[in-house]
Amino acid sequence: MYKFKAMINNKFIETKTQLEIINPDGLEVCGTVSALSKEQINHAFLAARQAQKRWEKLGLDERIKSLNRWKELLLENKAELATIIMTEVGKGYKDALVEVERTVEYMAETFMQAKDLQPLKLDGAKYGAPNKQATFTRVAKGVGVAISPFNYPINLAISKIAPALVMGNTLVFKPATQGSLIGARLGELAVEAGIPEGIFNVVTGRGREIGDEIVKNPEIDFISFTGSVGVGKHLLEVASSKDVVLELGGKDPAIVIDADNLEKYANEIVSGAFSYSGQRCTAIKRVLTTNEIADQLVPLLVKKINNLTVGKPADNADITPLIDLKSADFVWELIADAKAKGAITLTGDSRVANLITPTLVDHVTTEMRLAWEEPFGPALPIIRLNSIEEMIKVANASNFGLQASVYGTNIDQAIEIAQQIEAGTININGKSQRGPDQFPFLGVKDSGFGTQGIGETILSVTRYKGIVINN
Ligand code: NAP
Ligand code: G3P
Repeated sequence: MYKFKAMINNKFIETKTQLEIINPDGLEVCGTVSALSKEQINHAFLAARQAQKRWEKLGLDERIKSLNRWKELLLENKAELATIIMTEVGKGYKDALVEVERTVEYMAETFMQAKDLQPLKLDGAKYGAPNKQATFTRVAKGVGVAISPFNYPINLAISKIAPALVMGNTLVFKPATQGSLIGARLGELAVEAGIPEGIFNVVTGRGREIGDEIVKNPEIDFISFTGSVGVGKHLLEVASSKDVVLELGGKDPAIVIDADNLEKYANEIVSGAFSYSGQRCTAIKRVLTTNEIADQLVPLLVKKINNLTVGKPADNADITPLIDLKSADFVWELIADAKAKGAITLTGDSRVANLITPTLVDHVTTEMRLAWEEPFGPALPIIRLNSIEEMIKVANASNFGLQASVYGTNIDQAIEIAQQIEAGTININGKSQRGPDQFPFLGVKDSGFGTQGIGETILSVTRYKGIVINN
């Protein structure tokens, strides 16, 4: 049983009530964190504001020194951190460990890129102003808010936190409820690393209770949010700052245009759709192909899906219980709707509480909810269409536009299709995927606003400051 506290101004916060964290594997309480009041949240912002200028003035090298110790502590404690992640979000232990290691690498690369940033030097002579010599440097925006989702609770937190802090901002960080144990543990390690007071503050509590209070705070200079479309849109409406980066949901299509290399395509599709039980924003969430190709592809998918293991995170099963019962109910509802309208399930289609077996749903049509909604679980629809034109049309008819993948041997044709797909990134002959973390990562339409990725996040948490010398 974990017992963690929120952390404000390097103090651990006692609260009258605690937030209970439920282990997805067993649905029992596995820990508690502080449930903060509005006053305590306000205090976090005041602490962040007070500390900001001092932290910025410390200079990049000193900030990196401080943050580097934190990074080392993450690495030293990686087994413990992975166990917390496994327990509170039901991720297989090995994958949780990979997440922690990826996060440490993310920090290292962030610090390196921050050091490599060069000011923009402009000679006015080129623009008819020979007396002007300008230097534009990236400087901190001030006080930021980072709000992260449950599914990559350390990686999607640090990918906001590290760039913001290294560039001289201070932060109020709100982890997802399922993700608060690791979020609060990050706070403890920050204090242990000697990061000065007020720089990094962890506020815990349910989003629906404290979320508005957080994002409406007048001290906020910028917000970085990753989560669902509904919460993201609500945040845009109520937030005090309009400087917002949103990374939201997806309905990434896998578009299969020929049958030349189906074994490889099937491997990519199964791993893209079912890793972490489909609880990835970048998961493949629909397959678009022709009847003829589907007839050959589907048996390969069935065979591979039937080889996936179903069970416990501690045993590193491929498919583990979903984050909670409500999420499982939603996936189940989408499968039921598809079946009621004529689709056929070829694998899985069974459920015990929040554990759903990997379910391939064939003959899904555009009349079914599974064609359009994001299950965030192990249900993959096959949509059989008549032509490549139809595949592009159905791909683009979605309100989402995170990523897509196109599979075919004719690369020129695949690129031509990619150019017509409305999404942030299109992978050719490979599953949709956020990484490597150095790549820009973005969604269009309802999938997001603004760009992440190490270099891009550094830009999003800074602004230019120009100094122009007039001779
Ligand atoms: P979520 O329910 O939207 O929650 C995301 C975060 O918002 C959590 O910290 C949540 O706290 C908080 N929140 C809830 N209500 C709020 C409010 N009124 N104001 C401010 N914050 C509030 O999403 P999730 O279930 O954790 O994550 C799954 C979704 O995230 C999927 O749609 C997935 O596609 C998307 N996602 C996108 C990306 C990307 O980079 N594009 C990456 C990962 C996930 P509580 O947990 O306390 O409610
Ligand atoms: O939804 C989380 C997503 O960001 C996971 O990362 O690189 O596996 O797509 P990746």
